Amino acid sequence: MKRIFCLCLVVIAAFCVTQTVYAAAPTGELTDADCVKCHIKEVKDIDANGAAHKEMGCTDCHAEHAPTGTDIIPKCALCHDASDNKHFGLANCNGCHNPHHPLNIDFSALDNVKPACLTCHADKGEEMAAHPSAHSEQDCNSCHNAHGLGKGQFSNCLDCHDGHSADMVVADCTKCHKPHSPKEVTYGEIPSKLCAGCHGDIVTTLANSKTKHSEMACSECHVDKHMTITPCEDCHDQPHSPAMHKKYPKCVQCHVDPHALVK
Ligand code: HEC
Ligand code: HEC
Ligand code: HEC
Ligand code: HEC
Ligand code: HEC
Ligand code: HEC
Ligand code: HEC
Ligand code: HEC
Ligand code: HEC
Ligand code: HEC
Ligand code: HEC
Ligand code: HEC
Repeated sequence: MKRIFCLCLVVIAAFCVTQTVYAAAPTGELTDADCVKCHIKEVKDIDANGAAHKEMGCTDCHAEHAPTGTDIIPKCALCHDASDNKHFGLANCNGCHNPHHPLNIDFSALDNVKPACLTCHADKGEEMAAHPSAHSEQDCNSCHNAHGLGKGQFSNCLDCHDGHSADMVVADCTKCHKPHSPKEVTYGEIPSKLCAGCHGDIVTTLANSKTKHSEMACSECHVDKHMTITPCEDCHDQPHSPAMHKKYPKCVQCHVDPHALVK
């Protein structure tokens, strides 16, 4: 720190005694070690957040310097060739990436970011197109404000919606809904209380009926996808005499209600 401070003094002194900025800019061969004398901010930025660019020297990108040089600002395409990756074919790289901290991107500050996301996450675009919903109409950054699923990097369901009952927590939502195709309600084995927000009457009826079905979860008979119904025969076959089943083809003609069996 002390050394940098001294160098700065030297530079400030140089500015003071010369007429123009360019006169202060160095002549002759510049090395990476020189840059810090005048560009402390850029050096600090790269040190702290340069990611892979930190491994490079300043002069790998800034080959020349004013006033003598003109090849000062590199094109990204010099090293990131569009033929390697669809992403590198995008326009205006600097609009999203600062080369000195290339991965610090505030998504919420960008317009129309979806095409850029889809260069790498094409599957999400396909999923949204195949299952149109109100979410398909939104840009990715209406929910994702940074790259990842850490705390604060994205909005969760309860930031924008209420659950179907007061006791639902956010981890429940994704047991039934997928964020990018939310209308396709699918689930594995889940507790019946998650159905109760909308089918409270049936949850109560089944619990109170005190038959062997009462011990079962809704999702054991209504498997995988909302609105599917497993026929009685899939589990019981035809337990009575063939003649009887022929005469009364529907089990519920006698057993009345799977949620409140009559025996
Ligand atoms: C003695 C001070 C000094 C040193 C050392 C120095 N620069 Fe500069 N640099 C300047 C000044 C002054 C400017 C502003 C010139 C201008 O605006 O045209 C500048 C401008 C730049 C620019 C911006 C050019 C533009 O067109 O916007 C870049 C990039 C740059 N320097 C990179 C470097 C790198 C890389 C090094 C180390 C290899 C370095 N500089 C070393 C003083 C210095
Ligand atoms: C991966 C390539 C790359 C590396 C490495 C790099 N720069 Fe840059 N730098 C750029 C680009 C590209 C710009 C132009 C940014 C813009 O226009 O938004 C730039 C701009 C600058 C500027 C002009 C001021 C500004 O922020 O626009 C300075 C000064 C500068 N760089 C200094 C440095 C120094 C010092 C280092 C080393 C510590 C360095 N750069 C390392 C690519 C790089
Ligand atoms: C002189 C070569 C060079 C230039 C110019 C350059 N890069 Fe890079 N960049 C690299 C290398 C090398 C890597 C690390 C390997 C890789 O990911 O390809 C890298 C990695 C990156 C990364 C990923 C960082 C990480 O840690 O994963 C981003 C983002 C990036 N570059 C953006 C840019 C942008 C935007 C520009 C133009 C403003 C640019 N680069 C210009 C060489 C360069
Ligand atoms: C609309 C915004 C946007 C534009 C424009 C954009 N990028 Fe990116 N880029 C991103 C985002 C978002 C990521 C993912 C962020 C991350 O990896 O943390 C990314 C990631 C990268 C990576 C890291 C790749 C990896 O595999 O880890 C590189 C390299 C890169 N971009 C280079 C570029 C270059 C070069 C351009 C211009 C041709 C460009 N980007 C244009 C938003 C953009
Ligand atoms: C240059 C390629 C690239 C771009 C552009 C890009 N991503 Fe990624 N993204 C990746 C990679 C690689 C991963 C890590 C591997 C994985 O989990 O798929 C990742 C991971 C993620 C994750 C976290 C996954 C997890 O399990 O932690 C989210 C969320 C994400 N990206 C969203 C986005 C959004 C939103 C955009 C646009 C703003 C975007 N990405 C742009 C390449 C990219
Ligand atoms: C309506 C909000 C919303 C929108 C719009 C949205 N996402 Fe997501 N996304 C989420 C949520 C919430 C999660 C985390 C799900 C979890 O907790 O498992 C997520 C997870 C992800 C993941 C990591 C997990 C996985 O499924 O691979 C990626 C990658 C991702 N989103 C990319 C995108 C991209 C790309 C877009 C735009 C095309 C987008 N998202 C649009 C809400 C959204
Ligand atoms: C950034 C806000 C936001 C987040 C986060 C979000 N949504 Fe949405 N969602 C909306 C908006 C806006 C609509 C359309 C209006 C409405 O129905 O409220 C919508 C609609 C829906 C719909 C109805 C879809 C349709 O086309 O009718 C479902 C289901 C849904 N969201 C579930 C979820 C789930 C589950 C999550 C978490 C994985 C989630 N949402 C996260 C904003 C969000
Ligand atoms: C047990 C499965 C299940 C769980 C858990 C679940 N949902 Fe739903 N959700 C559904 C079903 C089924 C529908 C469709 C109802 C219809 O067709 O009217 C739905 C519809 C929605 C809708 C569309 C509007 C509406 O209310 O009809 C939103 C928004 C929504 N859910 C958000 C959420 C959120 C937020 C959570 C977590 C707190 C959540 N869901 C948890 C099954 C579930
Ligand atoms: C967000 C509210 C909501 C949630 C949560 C919900 N449902 Fe539904 N469910 C509905 C609505 C609304 C209908 C009526 C749809 C129609 O008739 O168009 C329905 C209909 C049904 C049907 C009847 C299908 C038919 O063909 O008549 C079954 C079976 C069903 N739900 C089971 C479940 C199960 C099991 C759960 C829990 C895993 C559940 N539902 C969670 C709202 C919900
Ligand atoms: C997913 C499988 C499944 C489906 C579908 C199913 N059941 Fe059952 N049912 C069971 C199981 C498991 C038992 C308990 C058997 C045991 O303990 O011997 C049972 C028990 C019964 C009993 C005896 C109840 C008691 O308390 O002794 C009757 C009657 C019955 N089921 C009728 C039906 C009828 C009628 C349907 C269709 C409306 C049906 N079941 C659908 C699995 C199923
Ligand atoms: C033992 C299997 C079984 C269990 C457990 C079960 N159901 Fe059903 N359910 C059925 C069958 C079979 C039908 C179709 C009855 C018919 O065809 O008359 C049905 C019909 C329905 C219907 C549509 C008709 C109606 O009565 O409104 C809804 C909604 C429903 N079930 C919700 C639920 C919920 C919620 C639970 C958990 C509390 C549940 N079911 C538990 C077997 C079951
Ligand atoms: C004509 C009326 C009637 C019809 C139709 C009927 N059942 Fe039954 N079922 C009964 C009666 C009464 C009992 C109790 C006496 C007994 O065990 O035979 C019973 C008992 C049962 C039991 C319990 C057996 C045990 O061992 O405890 C099951 C399971 C069952 N039925 C399933 C079905 C299924 C599945 C269907 C449709 C394929 C069906 N029943 C159709 C009248 C009927």
